[in-house]
Amino acid sequence: MEPSSDEISHVTQGMSVDVGRAALTVTKALDYVGIDDKSHGRRVGLICHRLAHHLGWEKTRRHFILIAGMLHDCGVSSTTVHQKLVDEMEWEGAEEHCIRGDQFLQSFPPFSTFATAVRYHHTRWQDLPETLDRETREYANLIFFADRLDVAYASFILNHPYHEALLSRENIFSELTPYAGLLFSGEFHKAAERAIQKDSFWLELRDEYLDDAIMEALSSEDYEVSLSFDEIESLGELISQVVDAKSPYTHYHSLRVADVAYTLSGLAGLPPYERRLLRLSGLLHDVGKLRTPDEILEKPGALNEHEIAQMRSHPLDSKRVLKSLFPNNQIAKWASEHHEKLDGSGYPFGWKGDQIDFPTRILSIADIFQALCQKRPYRHRLLIDEVLEIMDEMNAEGKIDTSVYTLLKANKDELYKIAIRM
Ligand SMILES: [Fe+2]
Ligand SMILES: [Fe+2]
Ligand SMILES: [Fe+2]
Repeated sequence: MEPSSDEISHVTQGMSVDVGRAALTVTKALDYVGIDDKSHGRRVGLICHRLAHHLGWEKTRRHFILIAGMLHDCGVSSTTVHQKLVDEMEWEGAEEHCIRGDQFLQSFPPFSTFATAVRYHHTRWQDLPETLDRETREYANLIFFADRLDVAYASFILNHPYHEALLSRENIFSELTPYAGLLFSGEFHKAAERAIQKDSFWLELRDEYLDDAIMEALSSEDYEVSLSFDEIESLGELISQVVDAKSPYTHYHSLRVADVAYTLSGLAGLPPYERRLLRLSGLLHDVGKLRTPDEILEKPGALNEHEIAQMRSHPLDSKRVLKSLFPNNQIAKWASEHHEKLDGSGYPFGWKGDQIDFPTRILSIADIFQALCQKRPYRHRLLIDEVLEIMDEMNAEGKIDTSVYTLLKANKDELYKIAIRM
């Protein structure tokens, strides 16, 4: 049954999201590929915005470059690629993530206007295609410049307290000087020479101040475009693709978990609006896995205790991202609890019985079911009866909800088809 318009408007009321905030959330999610340094995209956006001020750009252009700058690395989902981009000023493999980023942004209409700037954010100033208009060339190249400045800053604060950046600002900046006029527009270099004199330029890059600075910048440009519920849903699907693309073994995992949870919740009689929220939560439940190093996700054997410990933060990482996009509903909570078990043996909270609400029970069963239906680095895809054999045992041990599991078994063929659909 499709949700009625009344129910949908009930959902969407608490859920109008403006484009800038959506971009900030996507950036937070994607910045996880930096593992410990999870602020690169946001810092680049802010640096772009500050430089735009010093270049004398007007409001709409400043707003544009703040968002485009935040989103610039949306084509990176691999922690290995991220590392290469950080280690080398000009890496020959850099173009691939620009192309992927361009495609990613184009597939979501509210973000498509930023696509071309992202496509060319590793192209030398002199080599930018003549077919691009002047503004777009400037956007692309300012991102390149801010990106390289942030890499220099990030490597500095790796070994120094934050405030030391004030004393070493000229040194950090001097890393870019040999490339002025070559990789980057000389004009940007000059504007940056002035911008870096302000203490706030450096201080606000610090994690504690960063979100506030970005939120202020977003609202000061009074640019408000709201996304509809349908758009938020397609944004969720898009992010899920980036998460699932991280490893060949998790292809479509999030999308399939979302669809299994959506169907199961219908069988269980949840109201339509709650089902759509649960589907969104399913789409994004593993977004925190962007922070898990590639080697762990693709390891062809059992994980050791250190790797398991590293994996175990992903539900809370998912929560952090979802909370900022959906502060007023249960989406973030459900996602953060998808590895809880009724007998208290789950993580990260170790909730027991009634502490785990019904939609969370559905989501966690959908997650277990889909993962078992899917090939893993250490095993082949299981047949439906093999899947149920394993889940029967979990049910007998009191780990999963029996009523939901009974519904799943009664509809096993339909749900198996959804879980393995390509
Ligand atoms: Fe970057
Ligand atoms: Fe998970
Ligand atoms: Fe999952």
